[in-house]
Amino acid sequence: MNQATLHQLMTKRSKKYVDASHEAFGLRLATNISLISSLYFSLYPEKEKASYFPKLLDKMEQLFFKRPEELKELDLKRAKVGNWYQSEQLAGMQLYVDRFNKDIKGLDEKLPYFEELGINFLHLMPITTRPAGENDGGYAVNSYHKIDARYGTRKEFLAFTKKARSKNMILMLDFVVNHTSDEFEWAKKAIAGEEKYQNYYYTYPGRQIPDAFEKTLPEIFPATAPGSFTYNKSMERWVMTCFNSYQWDLNYTNPEVFIAMLENLLNLANMGVDVVRFDALAFLWKKIGTISQNLPEAHQLVSLFRMCLQVIAPGVILLAEAIVAPRNIIKYFGEGLLEGNECEVAYNASLMALLWNSIATKKTSLLYKSLLETPSKPQDGTWINYIRCHDDIGLGYDDDFIRDLGLSPREHRKFLLDYYCGGLDWSPAKGLLFMYNPKNGDGRITGSAASLLGLEKALEQKDKNSITEAVAKILMLHGIILSYGGIPLIYAGDEIGMLNDYTFLENEDHKDDSRWVNRPKQDWEAVNKLASKKNHASSIFNGLKKMIQLRKKLPVFADVSPPIIHPSSNPHIFVFERTNGKDRVWVISNFDENTQFLHVSWLFTIGIHPENNLKDGITGKKLKLERNLLQLSAYEHLWIMAG
Ligand code: GLC
Repeated sequence: MNQATLHQLMTKRSKKYVDASHEAFGLRLATNISLISSLYFSLYPEKEKASYFPKLLDKMEQLFFKRPEELKELDLKRAKVGNWYQSEQLAGMQLYVDRFNKDIKGLDEKLPYFEELGINFLHLMPITTRPAGENDGGYAVNSYHKIDARYGTRKEFLAFTKKARSKNMILMLDFVVNHTSDEFEWAKKAIAGEEKYQNYYYTYPGRQIPDAFEKTLPEIFPATAPGSFTYNKSMERWVMTCFNSYQWDLNYTNPEVFIAMLENLLNLANMGVDVVRFDALAFLWKKIGTISQNLPEAHQLVSLFRMCLQVIAPGVILLAEAIVAPRNIIKYFGEGLLEGNECEVAYNASLMALLWNSIATKKTSLLYKSLLETPSKPQDGTWINYIRCHDDIGLGYDDDFIRDLGLSPREHRKFLLDYYCGGLDWSPAKGLLFMYNPKNGDGRITGSAASLLGLEKALEQKDKNSITEAVAKILMLHGIILSYGGIPLIYAGDEIGMLNDYTFLENEDHKDDSRWVNRPKQDWEAVNKLASKKNHASSIFNGLKKMIQLRKKLPVFADVSPPIIHPSSNPHIFVFERTNGKDRVWVISNFDENTQFLHVSWLFTIGIHPENNLKDGITGKKLKLERNLLQLSAYEHLWIMAG
C-alpha cells in the first residue's frame, strides 16, 4: 500500500479523534501506520488478504475506544516518561497465584509481604480458564481473559489490579500467543467441522504436509509429546501441536487470526496488565523445510503486534519469552529497520544458563567469553534477569564458545547434567532431569535454586558449613541479577530458600513433567518465623532485602548503559562494572569454594583504587587489602563503591 493511500485512510479517520486522548491515538496511528502497513503486507502479500488491512485499522480504533479511561491516562503518563522499565527502582517476583496464597484475595492479603521485601513488579502465572487435568500449568488456555474460578472472579482481579496500580506495583501476565488449548472456542468449532476455524490452526486431512513439516521440526517435549502433530478423531484431521498434544498452534498465516489475537491481547491489557509476557514467541511462524523457530516472519509478526499495541495502549510493554541461542535472543528487541520496535524486554536466558555453568565448573571462562563475544542489546531494551523460573534450565550455550575453551560441547553438557542431576557423588546439587533423551544424551535440568545450589543436601546432612556455603551461593547469584542491568525477577520461594517439592510425583497430571519439582507451595510457616528465628531462610530473606534496598538507592543500576565486563585475572572470579558516567559500582563474585585473590595491580587496571575510601556497599565494610591482595572468601559477593 503506498503512502498516498495511507494518507487517505488517515484523513478519513482523523475527524473522529476529537478529545485529547483520541488526538494522541490519531498521532500515534499516523506515526506507526507506515510501519504497520509494511509489516502487514510483507506477512500477507496475497491479494485476497489485502481487505483485512482496513479491518485491522477499524479493530484498532474499536479497541482504543474500549480501553478504560484510567489506563489511557496511565498510557499518556508513561509515554511522556519513556523507558520506565529500565529503572533501578524495579524488583520483581514470579509466582503461581494458587501456590503462593490460594487465590487473588490471598494474593491481595500478601501485598505487605512484597512491600517488606521491596518487590514492586509481579509476574502472575496464567490465571485464565484452562482444561481440567493436564494443562501445562495454565499454558493451555481456554480463554485469554476469563479468570478461572479457582483464582476468583474478574471483579476481584480488576480490584486487585487497581490496588496494585495505586501502589505502583507493576503487573506482568502471560499472553500465550502461539497456541490455545483444544477446548478453546475456536478449537471446539474446528472440531465441530467449521472450516473457518480449522483454518485458525494448522490442520490437514492427511499426513503429507505434517510429514513434510516433521522432517525439520524439532521436538519440544520429546519424552511426553513426541512429534509435532496430533490426530483429532472427531475432526478427522491432523493438527499441529508443537508443545503438548492438547496445545494447538495458531495459524498466523491467516490474518483473521492476527486480528482476533490482537483483540485478545488488548482484552488482557485492559484488565490493568502493564507487561505482557509473549509466551513461546519464537515459534509464531511455521515453514516447511525449517525448524520453524526465530523465522524472520515471526519477528515481523511480533513487531506488528507491538506497533499496533503501541498505538492503542502505549503504556503496555512486551516481554520476549525466547529461550533460544544467545545470538538469537537479542533479535527480539528488533534488528535493522525493526530495531527497538519488537519487544521492550527479553529474558536474559543466556546469563541465567551461564551462571549455572559457572556454579558447576567453579570457573568464569564460558561466562566471560559469551558475554564479551555476543552482540549487546539495543539501548532502549532491557532484560529480565533471573536465576530460576517455573521452567527447566536449558543448556543453550554456544557450542563454538565451549570448543574455544578446549572442551567438547557434548561431554561438557553431560558433565553439567551429571553435576546437577545426581550423576556425581561429590556434587552438592540435587536436581532432576527434564526431557532427557537417552538416544543422544540431550537433556535439561530442573530443581529449585536452593536444592541446585546445595541447600537440600546440606540440610539433610546437617552440615553447617555446607549450609553457609549454599546460602552464600544463593545470595551471590541473586546479587548478580539485582545489579546486572534490567529487571531482577525472583522466583517465589527462592527468597526463603525453598527446596525441591517431590509431591508432584503423586499427582497424575504432573508426574511426567519434572518442572513441577520447582513449583512448591509457598511456605508461610517459614515466612512467619523469619523475624524470630535465625536460620537459612532468614539469612536469605534478609540478605535479599538488603540488596534490593541498596539497588533502589543506586541510580547507576538503572539500565541506561550496559555493564562493563572486566575479564578477571583469576579464573574463578567474575567482575563487572556499572557506571552512569558519574558513579561507579564494581560487582565482584567468587564462584569457588576456596578463598580467591585479586592483586591490586589488576584492580588498578579496572579503576579500583583501594586507597580512595571504597567500601562493599552490601556489608558497608571498608575495602581492605592484605599484602596487596583483595581476598574473597567462598562465594563472596561484593558491590564495591565510594565509601
Ligand atoms: C513457555 C512456558 C512453558 C510452557 C510453554 C508452552 O515456554 O514458559 O511453561 O510449557 O511456553 O506454553
